[in-house]
Amino acid sequence: MQLDQVVPWGRSLAEYREMFDLSEDDKHRRILGCADGPASFNAELSFMGGSVVSVDPIYQFSADEIYQRVLAVFKQVMDEVEANKAQFNWDVIPNTDRLGEMRLAAMESFVADYRNAQPGRYVAASLPALPFDDNYFEIALCSHYLFLYSDKVDLATHVASVNELCRVAQEVRIYPLVDLNGQPSPHVQGVIDDQTAQGRKVKLLDSDYHFQKGADQLLVISQ
Ligand SMILES: C[S@@+](CC[C@H](N)C(=O)[O-])C[C@H]1O[C@@H](n2cnc3c(N)ncnc32)[C@H](O)[C@@H]1O
Repeated sequence: MQLDQVVPWGRSLAEYREMFDLSEDDKHRRILGCADGPASFNAELSFMGGSVVSVDPIYQFSADEIYQRVLAVFKQVMDEVEANKAQFNWDVIPNTDRLGEMRLAAMESFVADYRNAQPGRYVAASLPALPFDDNYFEIALCSHYLFLYSDKVDLATHVASVNELCRVAQEVRIYPLVDLNGQPSPHVQGVIDDQTAQGRKVKLLDSDYHFQKGADQLLVISQ
C-alpha cells in the first residue's frame, strides 16, 4: 500500500455504536475493529476501559504520515461529499461543515491515541488474512470497507474475508451493505449463502445509523 493512494476517513465511537447496535455489554467485550483506519472508535472506547484491537493496512505508516495525509486530502473529500450531497441524509448531521468538523475531530483523536498506543492495539494487517488466533475476539466489527467497495473487491475476496473474521471472532457485524453509490452490494447474498451453508447464524438487522442513503442494515453472523 502506498500512502499517496490512501484517502483516510474516520468515524467516532458514537457512530460505531449506532452502526453496529452496540449495547453497554458489547462495549465490555473483547472487540476487533477491522478496517478501522483513522476512526476514533478504538481511542474513545479504550479510554473508557474497553478492550479493542484495530486492524488496517494504513497502520504500517506513522502518526505523522497519516495525519499529513488526512490534511492533504481533507478538502478533496469534503468537495466530493458536497458534489454528492443528495446521496446522504442531513437530518442528524445538518451540513457539510459540521460533517467536516466531526470527521476531523475523530481523526485527530485517532492520531493522538495512535501516536502513543501500547503495541498491539493497532495492528497493520489486511483482510483476508488476520494475524490472530481462532476465536480470539468476542466481536469483530467491519465499518465501511466490506461491501462498500464492491466494485474493487470481488465476491471471492468478500467470502474469504468474512470467513477470516468468523475465524477470529465469535460474532461478526458488518456495515454498510451498500456500495459507494448507495446501491445494495452484489456480494451480500453470496456471503450469506456461504455462511449459511457452513451452519452459521446470519441475521440482517436494521441499523440506527442512516447517514448514507440506502445504508439501513447491518449483517450479523454468529457461530
Ligand atoms: C472508508 S475507511 C473506513 C474507516 C473506518 N472503519 C470508519 O468507518 O470510519 C476504509 C478503510 O479500509 C481499509 N482497508 C483497505 N483495504 C483493506 C483490507 N484489505 N483489509 C482491511 N482494511 C482495509 C483502508 O485502509 C481504510 O482505512
